[in-house]
Amino acid sequence: MLDPTSSTDVFRVRGGPPLRGTVTLAGAKNSALKLMAASILADGEVHLSQIPAIADVPVMADVLRGAGVAVDLDLEAGTCRLEASDTQPEPPADAVRRIRASLSCLGPLVGRLRHARLALPGGDKIGARAIDLHARGLELMGASVSIEDGYVEVRAPELHGAIITLDFPSVGATENLLMAAVLADGPTVIDNAAREPEIQDLCRMLVAMGARIDGIGGPTLEVDPVARLEGVTWETCPDRIEAGTYAMAAAVTGGDVLIERVRASDLTLPLLKLRAAGVVLEEGSTSLRVKADGLEAVDVVTLPYPGFPTDLQPQMMVLLSQAEGTSRCTENVFESRFSFVHELERMGADVEIDGHHALIRGPGTLHGTTLAGLDVRAGAAGVMAGLVAEGTTIVRDVHHIDRGYARFVPRLQALGADVERVPVAALDA
Ligand code: UD1
Repeated sequence: MLDPTSSTDVFRVRGGPPLRGTVTLAGAKNSALKLMAASILADGEVHLSQIPAIADVPVMADVLRGAGVAVDLDLEAGTCRLEASDTQPEPPADAVRRIRASLSCLGPLVGRLRHARLALPGGDKIGARAIDLHARGLELMGASVSIEDGYVEVRAPELHGAIITLDFPSVGATENLLMAAVLADGPTVIDNAAREPEIQDLCRMLVAMGARIDGIGGPTLEVDPVARLEGVTWETCPDRIEAGTYAMAAAVTGGDVLIERVRASDLTLPLLKLRAAGVVLEEGSTSLRVKADGLEAVDVVTLPYPGFPTDLQPQMMVLLSQAEGTSRCTENVFESRFSFVHELERMGADVEIDGHHALIRGPGTLHGTTLAGLDVRAGAAGVMAGLVAEGTTIVRDVHHIDRGYARFVPRLQALGADVERVPVAALDA
């Protein structure tokens, strides 16, 4: 079952035990939500498996239902059947605003209907997160784009192919432009495209639906459009960020954890950094064993894939707070993603921040405290910090963690973590 998503719940974490045991990865959040959106493009049923039991998924299902897609979601089984039978250009604003990923419906709606009107979405509070790259690319494809009154509206009665060079390899812009391009009139080239494994997953599913896309996994995507796309049966790729989170949690607690259903090739740089920090990693064909006994400082720079993922930066900071020596961490992707570092400092970590650089001196003793207002990744990092802190850590606003981590508490408990989900009222009692 999906954990309850009430924002009045908290996670109570008591530090101490090293994590031991086996954890199997869920399907990737950042892939599943886009694969669901891509169903808008299909003339036929899309059957997805390995859909993670996270809170963003039912919200995405509601967004798609509002866009005229019949959705049959079974979170317990991790399956989702979608059929775009009566597509509408304007899904209801209340569902759209609840998750940032609803922006991924823009490209498919424009591709399919030549028209989309979306409320500007919410999601993590990690920076301005503009959509100028999405808009500029669509304009190059002949669309008119207006952003006003909290809505983005795209009209493209004559959507044509274009040569688009992105200023920055934005994940969301690459996906939206790709999904608009597969049904446009004429070929499209997206240069400086994002290359994340989840984008590769989306590209491969689109190809299985009949799309013609060259350059998958590289910085230049070439799309030769087709008149229609078929339905498809597709398995979501494993969540590399979840893999990194469990690996770092295992390492920072001095544990020994086997992670199953891993694609180590998606994690080249995080694994390289963990090895450099003294973590022992044994790679199997689809598994990863993580053991640690003492950590050393390393430097980390976040960059678009294949660089070190920004979505693992807060978790890495927790690990580095327990490493011997001084580490430097540079955040290049989201300008306000260092907010978690201040929380780590409050717990006793020795951190110095200068713009988008941080120096972390370790190892330092962390002390349990109450953490609040963290985004999905910082929330997971807060739990990790609690696992090594003295005393009890309370992580509030856990609905953020529920957005990205399937069954986080029971899976950590199965690894021996002393963590529980309790209603906030139980704390005050
Ligand atoms: C996706 C992921 C998120 C991850 C991020 C970077 C999903 C649902 N979310 O977010 O978990 O942290 O990739 O790996 O897949 N930008 C612009 N203009 C634009 C678009 C983006 O300036 O038009 C900026 C953003 O403000 C941000 C940076 O580019 O600073 C990265 O954004 P982007 O790669 O688009 O990330 P998302 O798709 O939002």
